[in-house]
Amino acid sequence: MREDIQEILFDEKTLAARVAQLGSEITRDYQGKNLLLVCILKGSLVFMADLMRHIQIPASIDFMSVSSYGSGVNSSGEVKIIKDLDRPVQGADLLIVEDILDSGQTLFHLCRMLRRRGPASLRIAVLLDKPERRQVEIRPDYTGFEVPDRFLVGYGLDYDEKYRNLPFVGILKPEVYTR
Ligand code: IMP
Ligand code: MG
Repeated sequence: MREDIQEILFDEKTLAARVAQLGSEITRDYQGKNLLLVCILKGSLVFMADLMRHIQIPASIDFMSVSSYGSGVNSSGEVKIIKDLDRPVQGADLLIVEDILDSGQTLFHLCRMLRRRGPASLRIAVLLDKPERRQVEIRPDYTGFEVPDRFLVGYGLDYDEKYRNLPFVGILKPEVYTR
């Protein structure tokens, strides 16, 4: 697995430190709110698990699975719900937890859909943001790191369902997805 990685961008220590900071910011901002963390499967699993343990106020969690990518590296601009939330979100302060914001299509459509369900508020936390790639107007409220336009894997992020279990975020060697 490691031999397919060109460069490690964020190692375990760097990720842990930044995620802890985000957790503190969320703790501060959501005092007295009805926080519901919405983990977008599967890429956000690792980020969510670490982030929620740094949030020191009551919070509920739920999971959603949407797809726009299939197994490739290009966005189709379509969002399909594979698994919906278990419960209604009326009155909840939703915080969407996402691994990476790329074209923005996935979150743009997802936010539009969730807003129609009447949450008290809706914000976005992303671990990684590739601002150069943005196709739609969407801004995360919490961002771990801005990253260059390269294909990244690890810490939950996959290529063709692999590499999610790497403990760091790294750049995948292009020959892995062009071969
Ligand atoms: P968007 O709709 O183009 O913003 O795509 C967001 C989704 O694409 C993310 O949730 C990821 O699943 C996937 N994605 C985008 N860039 C990468 C990457 O560099 N590595 C792995 N997955 C990515
Ligand atoms: Mg994904």
